[in-house]
Amino acid sequence: MTTRTRQSTTSTPTRTRASAEFVEHPGRGRFNSAFFWVMGGYINGLMHERKSAAFADLPPTVVELGSGVGANLRYLPTGARLVAIEPNPYMHTRLRRAARARGVDLEIRSVVGERIDLPDASADAVISSLVLCSVRDPHAVLAEVRRVLRPGGRFSFAEHVAATPGTPTRWTQRALRRPWAWVFEGCSCERDLAGVIRSAGFTRVDLSHYRIRSPFLPFNAHIAGTAIA
Ligand SMILES: C[S@@+](CC[C@H](N)C(=O)[O-])C[C@H]1O[C@@H](n2cnc3c(N)ncnc32)[C@H](O)[C@@H]1O
Repeated sequence: MTTRTRQSTTSTPTRTRASAEFVEHPGRGRFNSAFFWVMGGYINGLMHERKSAAFADLPPTVVELGSGVGANLRYLPTGARLVAIEPNPYMHTRLRRAARARGVDLEIRSVVGERIDLPDASADAVISSLVLCSVRDPHAVLAEVRRVLRPGGRFSFAEHVAATPGTPTRWTQRALRRPWAWVFEGCSCERDLAGVIRSAGFTRVDLSHYRIRSPFLPFNAHIAGTAIA
């Protein structure tokens, strides 16, 4: 993969300007950074089997949407380089620390997935987990993923989605949508992300639906898989 500019690196502090797609919340930003730092191991345990399959055999350089505090560093190959598209500055310090601990060469780009500042066809692989629920416009993000992937490049994802209509999980997702979105900075548990990915124009999509068992009921319906540009 080639990138023309390195706008922010492991050693450069980054700040995100408020944009239509992402607005910084000092309180909730810090809370979410701490939440995913503390709960990351537990959440990853619930998703690990599917993530291991989706994120298998990644190339040496990977672009990640919404890296958070580094939940997916463990799936990168030894000596990997990660280009993290992470607009939330409250994630950056922990993300850098985690990357250092795992020996990953990290480049943070404080931009949103709806406007990735990478050239067309410059990436071999893009990954995401628990991000398409939070972005303002998942269709725009998927269009950007396709744009930056080279032909044949791979988008690997593990995301949570709307549950089957009429189920208790779906009712709970509906009932809790507002407080959930408030606490988790815009996260929606009501998205048909399988539909969004399938309609994004990839040449091939392989995904499966599965359930996890957690006390966070709205969070229990998931998809994971890969899409080829
Ligand atoms: C629920 S966290 C998941 C973090 C990490 N991927 C994980 O699995 O733990 C959602 C992440 O998406 C990021 N995010 C929110 N809006 C975004 C956008 N428009 N573009 C890229 N990332 C975004 C947040 O800052 C946050 O780090």
